[in-house]
Amino acid sequence: MPCYVNFKGEKVVPVEEGQTILQASLAAGIPHYHACGGKGQCTTCRVLVLEGQEQLTPPTSYERAIKNVKKFPDNVRLACQSRVSGDGVEVQRLIKDETDRYILINDSEDSTRVMGERRKLALFFIDIRNFTPFIEASLPFDVIHIMRRIFAIFRNAITQYDGVIIETAGDGLYAVFGLNSKIKQAAESAVLAGLKILADLRIFNNTYMRPYFNHTFEVGIGVHVGKVIVGNVGIGLSNNLTVMGYPVNIAARLQAATRELDNSFVISELAFRLLKNPPYSMGCSYINLKGVSAAYEVRLIGKPYEIELPTIAPDAT
Ligand code: FES
Repeated sequence: MPCYVNFKGEKVVPVEEGQTILQASLAAGIPHYHACGGKGQCTTCRVLVLEGQEQLTPPTSYERAIKNVKKFPDNVRLACQSRVSGDGVEVQRLIKDETDRYILINDSEDSTRVMGERRKLALFFIDIRNFTPFIEASLPFDVIHIMRRIFAIFRNAITQYDGVIIETAGDGLYAVFGLNSKIKQAAESAVLAGLKILADLRIFNNTYMRPYFNHTFEVGIGVHVGKVIVGNVGIGLSNNLTVMGYPVNIAARLQAATRELDNSFVISELAFRLLKNPPYSMGCSYINLKGVSAAYEVRLIGKPYEIELPTIAPDAT
């Protein structure tokens, strides 16, 4: 009696005993890519296993070797190497046309690329608070030079605590912690990086900005933790990681809330509770988030601003 495999969005196909998924799909008329002819070498037959992974034979030596190089997650299998031993298997072909082939084969030549996975990370947003008045009063050279110095302070602290900068935008940036650690350590690292930035910026203000430019800078930092999707989206343009998900929006909102809460470092209660050695907190507060009926509890672990900041309406995150 044949088993059946559901090719998501395509068709349900019978698999005879001893047949691979690839042989079954080709027999059923699915145009399944198989550039090496089923020898376990090209990876064009790869499928994402959505259900019934336990009904598949264990990865062959070819699959294990390829997985080591290309860092496939466990639920990606080579259809030409996987045999089905029972019903309930659902798969999705990953390479369905030439564009898929171009994107996935070229990208996976680089073993550092992440195909897309859900991870629990600490999310860290930082923004320079009073940069616009400085831009308006300074020469372009000075603006870029000072920006570089401040971003060097950000980068040093973030990399010291094993964070990764995901994106810079204007006078702010977004980083994540926890790509190589558990979530408790990630939250701890994000907080330590933020506190180091505040301390280093204070020194920079006192020893450089105030004496040479008669100006000082403040920043706003927001930290939250949560499950997000991590992957490489850039197609030949950039190898940067992309991190997406609702927790990212919350972290951005916490950073923006530093203005209204008049505190330079705002962390969600959720992240704060993960800290083994929580820093002194000036108290807790509540902010409203779009789409969340109850107010969101946060901790204030920075300092009140020394300068008066223009009020900006909370963004629509
Ligand atoms: S067809 Fe080439 S690896 Fe499966």
